Amino acid sequence: MTAHDALNTPLVGMLGCRYPIVQTAMGWVARPELVAASCNAGAFGFLAAASLSADEVGPSIDRVRELTDRPFGVNFHMFQPGAARIVDTIIAAKVRAVSFGRGPDKNIIRRFRDAGIVCMPTVGALRHAQKMVEIGVDAITIQGGEGGGHTGSVPTTLLLPQVLDAVKVPVIAAGGFFDGRGLAAALAYGAAGVAMGTRFLMTRDCPVPEVTKSRYVGAGLDDIVLTTRLDGLQHRLLRNEVLSEVENAGSLSLLVSALKNAWLLKQRTGASVAELVAAARGMQRESGLSFGQALMAANSPVLIERSMIQGRPAEGVMSTGMVAGILGDLPSCDELIARMVDDAQQRLHRLAGG
Ligand SMILES: Cc1cc2nc3c(=O)[nH]c(=O)nc-3n(C[C@H](O)[C@H](O)[C@H](O)COP(=O)(O)O)c2cc1C
Repeated sequence: MTAHDALNTPLVGMLGCRYPIVQTAMGWVARPELVAASCNAGAFGFLAAASLSADEVGPSIDRVRELTDRPFGVNFHMFQPGAARIVDTIIAAKVRAVSFGRGPDKNIIRRFRDAGIVCMPTVGALRHAQKMVEIGVDAITIQGGEGGGHTGSVPTTLLLPQVLDAVKVPVIAAGGFFDGRGLAAALAYGAAGVAMGTRFLMTRDCPVPEVTKSRYVGAGLDDIVLTTRLDGLQHRLLRNEVLSEVENAGSLSLLVSALKNAWLLKQRTGASVAELVAAARGMQRESGLSFGQALMAANSPVLIERSMIQGRPAEGVMSTGMVAGILGDLPSCDELIARMVDDAQQRLHRLAGG
């Protein structure tokens, strides 16, 4: 097998992209501009719909299609207000793939698959991968603990072989990937490709305001924190003014700010109080949180939007993978993919004795 063939994994055929590299969904970040730039560069992009209202999903899918003729995917979660309508919209739009956490059940997976849509959830633990395979998904993205946003505790180097040994569907490696070395290593483990969030956020094509991206460029490894204080779940974030406040705040003041943020979220998404309570209850059931902790989930969307859309990084929060601590540039998606592919091919060629 040549180094070129090694990159032609089952994932490439399944998703219709040129290279086995996925741009993952990131709320308020993976907007149509980034998805289209990733796909045009040869990767496979996921539009982040978990941060959109049900009315915004269809127009955002249309916008990606104006910017690229390449296939792409949509990410959502079943606890968001309007989830059932979002599922209908995705099926009607016949996008190539969906990604999600643990939300959808067997019936929803069957509806996606009947529509020819590839189902590839992201998991942070072996048992979740097994559960997802049981309900019929096509592929699994594992996210190791060093990954961005909500994240588990098992490092990529352990979770990847553990899941590869346990399931028969293609496995995509996420959490800490950023270059051709990582891609070659993931393929050597037996993965069908890599998926990256933070590296795509840190590109020129990413529509996040420059003032916020410069916080990522300037960060070192010590500036990256894993906390449950913001929204009750393990969340990896860049250290900033708001995070320091959150870490020092008492439980009551966190709950008060969660209520304020839930109210802002209600206005932003048009969700009813009943829908927000149902969303919190759904999270509570899935994650074993108290209702108060699940309510804190409202903190994240409001504060992330402030950094990623409004360009006020000192007043919001910034989800990040650990990899931001060692990256210091903002290439275009074209440059990023070209150098990753070139480097991976050369390394694989050398390892094969070429
Ligand atoms: C800013 C940011 C926002 C994210 N938002 C989401 C999201 O809305 N849904 C989701 O499933 N994962 C989300 N993630 C996780 C990523 O999709 C991805 O799995 C993770 O970033 C991979 O790790 P890496 O950053 O080391 O590449 C987010 C990550 C970041 C950095």
